Amino acid sequence: MTHGQSSSAKAAVIDGKAVAAEITAKVAVETGRLIEAGGLAPGLAVVLVGDDAASQVYVGAKGRKASELGFHSVQHTLPLSTSEAEVLAIVEQLNRDPAIHGILVQLPLPRHIDTSKVIEAIDPAKDVDGFHPINVGRLAIGERDRALVSCTPAGCLLLVKRVLGDDLAGKDALVIGRSNIVGKPMAQLLLQESCTVTVAHSRSRDLPELARKADIIVAAVGRPEMVRGDWVKPGAVIIDVGMNRIPAPERGEGKTRLVGDVAYDEAAAVASAITPVPGGVGPMTIAMLMANTLTAACRAAGKPEPKF
Ligand code: GUN
Repeated sequence: MTHGQSSSAKAAVIDGKAVAAEITAKVAVETGRLIEAGGLAPGLAVVLVGDDAASQVYVGAKGRKASELGFHSVQHTLPLSTSEAEVLAIVEQLNRDPAIHGILVQLPLPRHIDTSKVIEAIDPAKDVDGFHPINVGRLAIGERDRALVSCTPAGCLLLVKRVLGDDLAGKDALVIGRSNIVGKPMAQLLLQESCTVTVAHSRSRDLPELARKADIIVAAVGRPEMVRGDWVKPGAVIIDVGMNRIPAPERGEGKTRLVGDVAYDEAAAVASAITPVPGGVGPMTIAMLMANTLTAACRAAGKPEPKF
């Protein structure tokens, strides 16, 4: 080590915002191509039930991005009192609408609505969230090319490949969290890339030891700064899906800040690359939603689909 250098190597920061901007730029170009080739502009319908503040923000961002890219973008905003039958009727109407290629029902739904029933009502070809059992199953049997894949894990995989290249074969990957939206599809994607995949969860024994073996860690548990620096193998790549708001009294009374599932400073001193929170995985989710909607539109038009 030369004099004056820090004793702790600093990981490269994976700029999810920049990668997401590249993806959406490609979606815009390919959308132009699809329309020139005689296809329809990709159409995205977002359905929001109730008045959850966070959901309103997410849905607004999705709709704005779709319009910005020249998509046909519609939003159905329904009151909390909307019945399950009414939501199902809207999904059916969107399934039949040839101008709509992607249907996204924002989760969580109010408690009186059966989420599985609604997801299963969506035409799998329009299921741009990748939550329908048909799409989950296609991913699981290795038919990713015919599936639509959950946006957040698809974005995480792209970020990993930005750092390690396209060939991940033989890497030890640890996915922390087993949700249907992130953990499980993430594990399937990494398995498809021939990684040796471990899925850890709240009942796993000795998580730090599992983490120390991993070349790739994807943390998606929703526990603020759970993954510590001494859990990380030197040179590992860390993808932090966590978005946890915690009190930040140092910023003033009642103030909060956003942190991931990884203790960033500690982990960044050991890892080779790490996603920040915010600005890492978050922006990739919307970018992949746009990519999925374009993919669905290309398939509907019988045109070749771009690879992301
Ligand atoms: N709520 C939180 N994340 C998501 C998501 O990826 N899709 C949908 N539909 N709802 C969500």
